[in-house]
Amino acid sequence: MPDNLYDALRESHELQRSLLRKLLRSKAGTQDRISLFKEVRIELHAHEAAEERYLYVPILMDDMGLSSSRHALHEHHQIDELIEDVQKLDPAGVAWVEKAKELSHKVHHHLREEEKKFFQVSGKILSAAQKVKLAKQYRKDYVRMHKVLAAA
Ligand SMILES: [Fe+2]
Ligand SMILES: [Fe+2]
Repeated sequence: MPDNLYDALRESHELQRSLLRKLLRSKAGTQDRISLFKEVRIELHAHEAAEERYLYVPILMDDMGLSSSRHALHEHHQIDELIEDVQKLDPAGVAWVEKAKELSHKVHHHLREEEKKFFQVSGKILSAAQKVKLAKQYRKDYVRMHKVLAAA
């Protein structure tokens, strides 16, 4: 059975949900909270980059995929801005918790919309052969981005 693009994308989605759950349960001002936030940031950025390159760019080229890909890229940008906002706050403070909740809420909304809508739209645009190839390319870039971001 060849690798499936959507299974590959969902693996990161599940990881994002689990990391965000842990992050919101972390204790104020602890090293645990700081490390979890770093994990969340790297996971979100690595997934977004590889997903933009190997899911949204290919479907952006098709008229049927234009509005979904545009919408998704806009949400990625909003998520990145929330990550930056959290990063500027004191992890021991109340404002940090409020902003981290906002980030978690935004990510959950985005993942749901991708799984319920954008994946279906792209499923009609991409051929079976493209999906197999893109799954491979996505996984490779996701791993590479993890390394690049962890070293930064
Ligand atoms: Fe996404
Ligand atoms: Fe995604």
